[in-house]
Amino acid sequence: MSSSGGDPAVGHVAIIMDGNGRWAEQRGLPRSKGHEAGERALFDVVEGALEAGLRYLSVYAFSTENWTRPSDEVEFLLNFNRALLRKRRDDMNERGVRIRRIGRREPVPREVLDEFDQAEAFTAHHTRLDLMVCFNYGGRAEIEDAAKQGSIQDNLYAPDVPDVDLIIRTSGERRLSNFLLWQSAYAELYFTDMLWPDFDRHSLFEALRDYSGRQRRYGGLG
Ligand code: IPE
Ligand code: IPE
Ligand code: MG
Repeated sequence: MSSSGGDPAVGHVAIIMDGNGRWAEQRGLPRSKGHEAGERALFDVVEGALEAGLRYLSVYAFSTENWTRPSDEVEFLLNFNRALLRKRRDDMNERGVRIRRIGRREPVPREVLDEFDQAEAFTAHHTRLDLMVCFNYGGRAEIEDAAKQGSIQDNLYAPDVPDVDLIIRTSGERRLSNFLLWQSAYAELYFTDMLWPDFDRHSLFEALRDYSGRQRRYGGLG
């Protein structure tokens, strides 16, 4: 999405929701409590995305690398995401949010995939905001999977979704961790030290304000 003069347009924001474990550790709590605390942040940010009129919001919920965590944490995250979908699905539906999962299906357990499939089918008719839940997602896996089919661009997990305009990463880490590598070729990057459970819609608005002062040149002269 380019713009000539004035604020750059923003249609697609992608968030690396990081820092849940540290948030919990700072409070002497188990890491799982940090993931639980991240739920409120996520759904407040969805409200913010609706308020801001974003069309696409991608969130990194579980990476292809996250399987290397201790098995109890992996199991917690699988069950937690499944429960969260069930709990929030009606709410998202009422707000006109279309839920979409992207990522490899293997080796996500059947019951977790079923929950995603149901949420997707239930909200498929909405066009206000697409909430792209990146689950068992890896940018390299996506590019490999697409390349096997032919053209990469046409065979991405969600080829209809435009490139990312702005990537937000919380928790002070300054890396992409295999997130939307193809789609973020020209994304603006925004890093904040805030841990994900402390993030909210106002933090999103702050990031969007920062973005509005950027000049996107796409290799040209602007
Ligand atoms: C992000 O928080 C959530 C997932 C990766 C699933 P972390 O669990 O990575 O939290 P930190 O980075 O250890 O603090
Ligand atoms: C990225 O966070 C993945 C998600 C937010 C789901 P990680 O915590 O897994 O990333 P690294 O290990 O710090 O790069
Ligand atoms: Mg992390």
